[in-house]
Amino acid sequence: MLEIKDLSVSYGMIEAVKGVNITIKDGEICTLIGANGAGKTTIMHTISGLLTPKSGQIFLDGEDLLKMDSEEIVKRGVIQVPEGRRIFQKMSVYENILLGAYQRKDSYDDEFEYIYSLFPILKERTSQLAGTLSGGEQQMLAIARALMAKPKIMLLDEPSMGLAPLLVRNIFDIIKTINSTGTTIFLVEQNASMALAIANHAYVMETGRIALEGSGEELSASEKVQKLYLGG
Ligand SMILES: Nc1ncnc2c1ncn2[C@@H]1O[C@H](COP(=O)(O)OP(=O)(O)O)[C@@H](O)[C@H]1O
Ligand SMILES: [Mg+2]
Repeated sequence: MLEIKDLSVSYGMIEAVKGVNITIKDGEICTLIGANGAGKTTIMHTISGLLTPKSGQIFLDGEDLLKMDSEEIVKRGVIQVPEGRRIFQKMSVYENILLGAYQRKDSYDDEFEYIYSLFPILKERTSQLAGTLSGGEQQMLAIARALMAKPKIMLLDEPSMGLAPLLVRNIFDIIKTINSTGTTIFLVEQNASMALAIANHAYVMETGRIALEGSGEELSASEKVQKLYLGG
């Protein structure tokens, strides 16, 4: 579904991503793990059209995403949940969710119901200011807003960041549920153990390059991954 070919991205002299190849298949959970600064967010932003690569190609179902601006990419159903949530603190939960629908012209009442069934806590807090939510609830809100845009593929950038273990489990369960309804997931994480546990396919990134690739199971069992990313 999404094919990244020989992608290189630089910030001035800094080469953040160097010749990366990633293939994400329709309906799967694909995860990209790696330490802080490895280049994960840079890849996300390039897929979303927020950064222009130095070289390489990105195809969505054969269509060249690099020829499109970020609005067109959103219209194709490529929806990013950004690192750090980026919700609007001074708007209500309801208004934040509604923002996800800004490009839609059809009715989205059904999505609201679906979202509130996934996140009952957001229904309870629908008129509360988003800034008053806990970190875990803010992450749920960021995911809810993305769902409003009817993603074909959801790009999740470190959804577990800063969350207590119980909430991390909760968020990962929700990601699995969303995937089970047919939404393809590209999950970027530093939390390697949880990410590999739910991944069909996984990539390990080190300083701008893909160092390892395999099924979630294969990489969980890899000695190198255990030593460097799973504290084993
Ligand atoms: N806006 C920027 N300007 C310059 N360098 C950047 C910028 N954003 C990221 N970088 C650098 O690019 C590299 C990859 O960063 P990033 O993609 O954010 O990594 P990750 O998401 O894996 O933590 C890092 O060395 C980082 O310092
Ligand atoms: Mg990042």
